[in-house]
Amino acid sequence: MQLVLERCTIRPWRLDDAESLAKHANNRKVWLALRDLFPHPYAIQDAHQFLQRATTEQQVTNFCIEVDGAAAGGIGIRLGQDVHRHTAEFGYWLAEKFWRRGIMSEAVAAFTDFCFGHFPLRRIYAEPFANNPASARVLEKAGFVFEGCLKNNVIKDGELLDSLLYARTK
Ligand SMILES: CC(C)(COP(=O)(O)OP(=O)(O)OC[C@H]1O[C@@H](n2cnc3c(N)ncnc32)[C@H](O)[C@@H]1OP(=O)(O)O)[C@@H](O)C(=O)NCCC(=O)NCCS
Repeated sequence: MQLVLERCTIRPWRLDDAESLAKHANNRKVWLALRDLFPHPYAIQDAHQFLQRATTEQQVTNFCIEVDGAAAGGIGIRLGQDVHRHTAEFGYWLAEKFWRRGIMSEAVAAFTDFCFGHFPLRRIYAEPFANNPASARVLEKAGFVFEGCLKNNVIKDGELLDSLLYARTK
């Protein structure tokens, strides 16, 4: 799979992405918007571990966002199970130096279309924290619909936060 877009390319992760991945992922501003599962600080060993998993997934669901020829972020889905097997949760991040260039707006829209075409999904959703208007905006631009505010849904960095539920359905 390779989605060659105007501002970036979405492609499978490679083991040699480790250095660039660790450099860009080691950013508190990125970490603040993601689950605690995403390490911080983000060391080169974290990158190696992640890439080992991402390159051996039975069903590839995590992809690299490449900008200017190097790994600059990640985009992926977590497939639902059981009665939620037709749904997936969406996650993504981009290196801070590339923010506000329209990269993620382009990537999220194209990747959502790819996922609906490639997996038997009827619903893709995301839950940006309520203090992340940029992510909410990216989702809105990609056709995701705001379904509600999940009060006190998250504790991040010691702070109790609401999250915003956005979904696209097919
Ligand atoms: C959120 C994130 C993915 C946005 O990526 P990006 O490539 O900078 O986004 P884009 O440039 O495509 O678009 C951002 C949109 O949000 C808007 N925006 C950016 N910062 C904003 C802010 N603080 N408040 C309101 N809107 C904001 C931009 O104006 C733009 O909208 P527009 O095209 O209507 O002007 C990126 O900042 C990031 O990786 N953050 C850390 C990780 C993260 O938040 N992941 C998502 C978890 S749900």
